[in-house]
Amino acid sequence: MFLSLLFVHLLLIGTAMFYFNSLLRSFCLPVLVALGVPSMDPELLAEDDADEIIVIADFEAESYGAWSIRGDAFGKGPALGTLDKQMQVSGFQGKGLVNTFHGGDKTIGSATSPLFVIRRPRLAFLIGGGRQKDLLAIQLLHKNRIVRTATGADSEHLLWASWDVSEFIGESVQVRIKDEATGGWGHICIDQIIQTAAPPSRYDLESTLDKYRAQKDYMNEPLRPQFHFSSEVNWINDPNGLVYHAGEYHLFHQFNPGGNSWGNMSWGHAVSRDLLHWRHLPVALPADDKRMAFSGSCVVDKNNSSGFGKDGHPPLIAIYTGHQPGRQVQNLAYSNDLGRTWTEYDNNPVLDLKSPDFRDPKVFWHAATGKWVMVVSLAVEKVIVFYGSEDLKNWTELSRFGPAGAINKPNWECPDLFELPVEGEAGKKRWVLEIDMGNGAIAGGSGSEYFVGNFDGTRFQTQQHAQWVDHGRDFYAPISWENLPDTDGRRIWVGWFNNWQTSGITTSPWRGCMTIPRVLSLRKVALNDEEPATYALIQRPIVELDRLKGESVDLNTDAISWPPRAITRPGEIRDLTFEIRATLKPGSARSVGLRLRTGDDEFTEIGYDRRAGGVYVDRNRSGLVNFNNAFAGRHIAPTRGSNDSVSVRILVDRSTLEVFVNDGESVISDRFFPTSREVILEAFAGNQTASIHSATLQMVNSVWSRKFE
Ligand code: FRU
Repeated sequence: MFLSLLFVHLLLIGTAMFYFNSLLRSFCLPVLVALGVPSMDPELLAEDDADEIIVIADFEAESYGAWSIRGDAFGKGPALGTLDKQMQVSGFQGKGLVNTFHGGDKTIGSATSPLFVIRRPRLAFLIGGGRQKDLLAIQLLHKNRIVRTATGADSEHLLWASWDVSEFIGESVQVRIKDEATGGWGHICIDQIIQTAAPPSRYDLESTLDKYRAQKDYMNEPLRPQFHFSSEVNWINDPNGLVYHAGEYHLFHQFNPGGNSWGNMSWGHAVSRDLLHWRHLPVALPADDKRMAFSGSCVVDKNNSSGFGKDGHPPLIAIYTGHQPGRQVQNLAYSNDLGRTWTEYDNNPVLDLKSPDFRDPKVFWHAATGKWVMVVSLAVEKVIVFYGSEDLKNWTELSRFGPAGAINKPNWECPDLFELPVEGEAGKKRWVLEIDMGNGAIAGGSGSEYFVGNFDGTRFQTQQHAQWVDHGRDFYAPISWENLPDTDGRRIWVGWFNNWQTSGITTSPWRGCMTIPRVLSLRKVALNDEEPATYALIQRPIVELDRLKGESVDLNTDAISWPPRAITRPGEIRDLTFEIRATLKPGSARSVGLRLRTGDDEFTEIGYDRRAGGVYVDRNRSGLVNFNNAFAGRHIAPTRGSNDSVSVRILVDRSTLEVFVNDGESVISDRFFPTSREVILEAFAGNQTASIHSATLQMVNSVWSRKFE
């Protein structure tokens, strides 16, 4: 009894001491060090846990405390975020930070910490502001000598940086932040100076995600698409590495883990079992100090030709562009755990032409000649290079294509090459080469064109002139999924729902989304009676979309004329997440169509313009349009064949609009930014009465409303 009491007693004392010790370590040590107290209780030091972070300064107090401040740039104490007339500052932790924009860019000054002892191999801090090495800097001073220095990157978003300070362990040092710059970007932002065992990851994506995932409007902000893919937070552009493997569709994408504008390009990652419900996964290929991970593709190496497979399972191989200023090369990375983690190939790059503009490899297995084929772009020369390989590591040039098509337009990017069936001609197939151009496309800004012809495993030969893939302004860099099962047999692609020219709209905390996945085929049609029939690329939304069907309403569209007439009641449509199917018959009217009215003077129009011979989207008064001069406008897709009637299928998803004309013969993809989600549908005809047939409105359920299964 006594013994057991003694034991409990000792246990309690032991536990108390343990907590007391760790309290000392986690609280007192940082505080003491931060105050610049150089020598420590030796016992405490012995207990010092090498993995524990030591905070030198978090700038959460009202004043700078023991730091010595000179000049006006630093203000009376740490700034509470963004200062007057400054662009939004982000990426700092807590409420306070050093921000030398006090009084604007012209003020100067310095802030010097008390002495502290280096006890960890790394000194890390969050840094933002101007890039002027000599004038704007955070410096490490050892015996009054500058031994380390860092500057900003002309960005108001603070990112982690760190120095290896292992040679100073046990020595007293100081940190100085200086601002001697008076012109544009003449300020520096610093937060969270810490001592740590390992460099913190460059971005604080984890905590951004944690905060976002706890929010009430998670994946449900007013402009957030509900049945299209978007990333939870931050900027995305091109789809990358689309591949089907072990029951999952992978959707990698260009992603900035550090913020909501283009930068730090990495491969973000999501998977789905139905191409609609996506599960967001951690970054697959992060940018590092040596290169950014630009666009590329993925294959399943079924026969382990690369030798990267493990335990008899085929690896996933990513082939992507490693980008660094002045040089773009093709790299490999492989995964043996269903794309969750990736290893870079030791002998990267696998292709290096010493070119600054050589990018976006699409790789596929060419069964007829039994080899891997890569199509990749020499962007400025407007040349697609075809390579062949046995093992994905050694590549030999096969042939080149281009310049061709819209050859006076700048930059060829993101090519894709695949074989498609011709509708109505059993067994007939043709090859399609798709190419994107950075500017000068049909509706302005960036866009895609395609060639139809033959590919014999070595060379692509086009049979007809180039055509536009999409007649809207917001369809770019599509690539198609590889490795769909033979039992499926579809060729499906997805594009970035944006345009480089007008991608600047800030939705927050996310920016950018993908189009609806589309099934591709070819159809032989003539533009009009005079023209010979050519192959048109047909794009249809995946049938899986029907699974999201909500309520459906038949619209009363009798005797349509001018002015536009409401065909739904106020409050009847509560959200901009629906599709409309209708057949537009102009008769002798000049035009006929539908308006999505989202305000007194705010509407987006989808119509058939008989004289111009095409279906158009007019977003001139669609809501937020002035953020970019090139945004407002009307985009028209010419219709083929008879002009008597045109069928349209319109997908509306809060800030996206896709109009599929005549069963996918042409498409208009446009973003729009309405100021309300309450919409009234109106129908109109220009100058004569016209008719709209079989008009139905079908609500589409959100894919974010239920958990991924
Ligand atoms: C196309 C593109 C690609 C490049 C990527 C970089 O949109 O410019 O050529 O790989 O974006 O994010």
